[in-house]
Amino acid sequence: MAGLQYLTGFGNEFASEDLRCPGALPDGQNNPQVCPYGLYAEQLSGSAFTCPRPANKRSWLYRILPSVCHKPFTAMHHDNLTDNWDEVEPDPNQLRWLPFIIPKASEKKVDFVMGLHTVCGAGDAKARNGIAIHIYTCNTSMIDRCFQNSDGDLLIVPQQGGILVTTEFGKMMVEPNEICVIQQGMRFSVDVYGETRGYILEVYGAHFELPDLGPIGANGLANPRDFLVPVAWYDNHPVSSGYTIINKYQGKLFSAQQDFSPFNVVAWHGNYTPYKYNLENFMVINSVAFDHADPSIFTVLTAKSTRPGVAIADFVIFPPRWGVADHTFRPPYYHRNCMSEFMGLIRGHYEAKEEGFQPGGGSLHSMMTPHGPDADCFEKNSSAILKPERVAEGTMAFMFESSFSMAVTRWGLDTCQRLDKSYYKCWEQLKSHFNPNWRPSSK
Ligand SMILES: [Fe+2]
Repeated sequence: MAGLQYLTGFGNEFASEDLRCPGALPDGQNNPQVCPYGLYAEQLSGSAFTCPRPANKRSWLYRILPSVCHKPFTAMHHDNLTDNWDEVEPDPNQLRWLPFIIPKASEKKVDFVMGLHTVCGAGDAKARNGIAIHIYTCNTSMIDRCFQNSDGDLLIVPQQGGILVTTEFGKMMVEPNEICVIQQGMRFSVDVYGETRGYILEVYGAHFELPDLGPIGANGLANPRDFLVPVAWYDNHPVSSGYTIINKYQGKLFSAQQDFSPFNVVAWHGNYTPYKYNLENFMVINSVAFDHADPSIFTVLTAKSTRPGVAIADFVIFPPRWGVADHTFRPPYYHRNCMSEFMGLIRGHYEAKEEGFQPGGGSLHSMMTPHGPDADCFEKNSSAILKPERVAEGTMAFMFESSFSMAVTRWGLDTCQRLDKSYYKCWEQLKSHFNPNWRPSSK
């Protein structure tokens, strides 16, 4: 949406007032006896009060009415949202999904919340340690209802259709090839403009951070100034038919009614906010001599575990770039990984999977399950004349990589292609390379 304004920076101490109410932010204190315009002060904590300063997250919201003015929460049914990781038996096989089907509005109107489907995950929202991966497919805007995730942060990756995300902090337009992060507890509503699809990485118990850069230095990868934060915007229209707050709490949905919009924040300040980022701003660093840098070089955001260097989940992208490595097999190599890898494709063709991996689909390579380029990719790139070339032009693939051993859900298993039936054929050709007469002298 043209005309939306944003603040810039990652995790800054921001301050914003709706232009209709200048001076709405209290001067010099957070919680005056009487706030300007008779607003109510409300703190939203994103970390324990006693967290060290670099990890301490909170914002102060100045609202027309406080959030507490709602009727009790009651349980709400949802067909495909779950945190039950024991729905199906463990299966280490590679899984691949065709583009997730978007319902037709003419057949059934589905909004962002009702269009959520949990694919896989691990861990425990109650213990505040874990991950869930969801798909959203929808065709209708959320009307007089909003969502809040009490369980963790949501990193949203639109794949088809832009989403207008209205939050307590203001509005963000997020198009495909951009991402947004709605942190734990922040209320938001999603408007869509047609058939809409995307991916969500949810983490329990940690917030996303920019990765440390080590010897790269002070600049590079996702630069902090490219992150955009909404500006304060309030809605004070009466909602005579009732406004529904949907709360995901311990993996289950609950709803509560109130008679006003939750987007009634006139001014706010703090360092705990939603934000968005355009993936085209990612500064790619890669090998300029030979061999591969590890894919961690493509990390946009990381949600750290308590173990040094080990993430609950990393958000990693494979953007267009130059490939210049000499005497090197340039596509991703064959590997087995101590992490779980869920991949999605926003647009284009992923270099290591020439067939069968389409925008809007996905794949799951579980912990230590072998994977790598298909036979066509191997053949082509083993004999390619190496010269500087553009790689992944017009493509944006991404990976949610997790140190958790993720389990697929019933819905995930019902909708995937079982690779033992169809997919392994793309490696059949490699098997023909087996030479029973191979000897060391064959070099
Ligand atoms: Fe991999």
